[in-house]
Amino acid sequence: MALTFRKLHPHFVAEVGPVDLRRVHDPETLAEIRAGMDEYAVLVFHDQPFADDEHLEFAQRLDGLLHTKTGSRALVKNRFGNEALGDISNVDENGEVMKSDNRRRMYGLGNRLWHTDASFQDPPGRYSMLSAKVVPPVAADTEYADMRAAYDALDAQTKAKLEGLRVHHSIVHSRQTLGFEFTQDEQEALKGAVHLLIRTIPRSFRRSLYVASHASRIIDWPIPEGRLLLRDLIEHATQPEFVYRHIWRVGDLVIWDNRATMHRARPFDDTKYRRELRRVTTLDIPEPAVLAGSS
Ligand code: OGA
Ligand code: MN
Repeated sequence: MALTFRKLHPHFVAEVGPVDLRRVHDPETLAEIRAGMDEYAVLVFHDQPFADDEHLEFAQRLDGLLHTKTGSRALVKNRFGNEALGDISNVDENGEVMKSDNRRRMYGLGNRLWHTDASFQDPPGRYSMLSAKVVPPVAADTEYADMRAAYDALDAQTKAKLEGLRVHHSIVHSRQTLGFEFTQDEQEALKGAVHLLIRTIPRSFRRSLYVASHASRIIDWPIPEGRLLLRDLIEHATQPEFVYRHIWRVGDLVIWDNRATMHRARPFDDTKYRRELRRVTTLDIPEPAVLAGSS
């Protein structure tokens, strides 16, 4: 199937059509979508009425094994009984919009910080696929920043300084910056992970800045110095020229490459309006099983 890609931002993001992803099984179309991900890092598909099992199956066809080690797993049981199906909603286990003091709500507010999915795990997340089920009548958008363009814009001296640095990522760190408190057991379960600050993305060979609010320190550097550098890098990478804002419609599926982008939820009146999305994220392992099997 020949897909069309319409670029939505000078650096990245394309809207793709016409296609019903539930019916995409052929290797050629899947390869076209992967090539689109290599080029644009964020792909927007409208009118994708996925059932949960179709969403999970599509994610595996596209990119292999699924991530199940989200941060919220250490806090609450998944509402859908499947840790691979991320509950990105402001709805509690009874289907009601969460009250302001709900602990899962407060935890979820951390999505308003710039981040990449599951960078506090090893392996982290590679592709995240977010499907919109219920969208409020007010703006409740998601922003994306192109970390390849942000890397490219650094001067040569800075690039050289960052090369080879290793960063500790921790969701306990990012949530604690908001005053969210974890129990001792939760902290034990969420120890974090170490990743390279500068990554080369396989296939495209683009280089990218792998930072996030989860980034707590640079290994081998004094903590304040590392934190200041990480803060400066996030500030640099989220300047307006690197940022795209997605305005959700029901049925949208947005796929982003967590190696190449950061994202954040924008604030809205979330104790008033219902917003329900579901996210499936693949594992950032060197060779996706699905590709290894088909080569
Ligand atoms: C996510 C996420 C942001 C939003 O699903 O990983 O960060 O706008 N979502 O809901
Ligand atoms: Mn996220």
